Amino acid sequence: MDKDLLVKTAKGMVARGKGILAADESSGTIKRRFDAINVESNADTRRDYREFMFRSKDAMKKHISGVILYDETIRQKAKDGTPLVKLIQQSGSIPGIKVDAGVKPLQNYPGEVYTEGLDGLDKRMEEYFALGARFAKWRAVIDIGAGFPTTACIRANNQALARYAAICQEHSIVPIVEPEVLMDGDHNIERCYEVTEAVLKSLYAELFDARVFLEGTILKPNMVVPGKKSGKKATPEQIAEMTVKLFRQTVPVAVPGIAFLSGGQGDVEATANLNAINKHDMPWTVTFSYGRALQAAPQKAWSGKAGNIPTAQAAFTHRARMNGLAARGDWKKELEKM
Ligand code: 13P
Repeated sequence: MDKDLLVKTAKGMVARGKGILAADESSGTIKRRFDAINVESNADTRRDYREFMFRSKDAMKKHISGVILYDETIRQKAKDGTPLVKLIQQSGSIPGIKVDAGVKPLQNYPGEVYTEGLDGLDKRMEEYFALGARFAKWRAVIDIGAGFPTTACIRANNQALARYAAICQEHSIVPIVEPEVLMDGDHNIERCYEVTEAVLKSLYAELFDARVFLEGTILKPNMVVPGKKSGKKATPEQIAEMTVKLFRQTVPVAVPGIAFLSGGQGDVEATANLNAINKHDMPWTVTFSYGRALQAAPQKAWSGKAGNIPTAQAAFTHRARMNGLAARGDWKKELEKM
């Protein structure tokens, strides 16, 4: 384990005014995204799509500190033969890799899931480091409903996250630890606070037990928001206040950075909430690690047509710039007019 490299990578991932592009959709997820824009999902279209984002020079150089890749993408080459990893590195951004194998039903706990992927992870890490990855991602999924999450589900997921984090660090790869509390339910914001609090407390207890080097980790959490089906809305200021209060109670100061998932929030909503959070004084650098909130606009603009690439790149650059500003607390609604 190279602790200096871990610290350097983690700091780079949360460099001021920059954030992470989560482009690690599995083949199934990217197919769903492509279906929505009537694009066939095959190795070439997936390559073309990701290539134009990684070639968006302004976005990548100024606002994107790191890119999370999927196993297929980390091995792919651009049309001209340049490895996609190289395009990312040339823009000054850090390549990362999603290493979990997705969720499976949690035996004896109907409705709950746990994340698979520890088998053979040690060996795979060696290869990913050689391919250029300097950080990794593992996503645990916790749902809120009547009678869940259970402590058994929270514990099983966090123990896997801790094991994954320890394996990453042995290979000098920074683990993004992502315990996502879903915002899909009909719960109110207080219930989201309560569940996320239980999840983060348990997570840091497990990371502590596994002797994970916190200075070489990044937390990727959900914000504290009301469930989508609750019919309730909270202002960015309310979300920020509760989210920051929660982190103060649960996230050790040794953790260098927090990079949020967007989790189904609208593009501008995710930006406005991040901005409001960054109006608070905090001991961590707090930024974005967005998938949908960065890519929905460029995906739509592209729609699989080469001729649309400049417009799609402009859409991606705009969202990256808006979120870069939000990561400093400098975003304003008026700036949304391109
Ligand atoms: P979303 O921002 O679309 O939630 O994706 C982020 C991510 O990487 C989830 O694991």
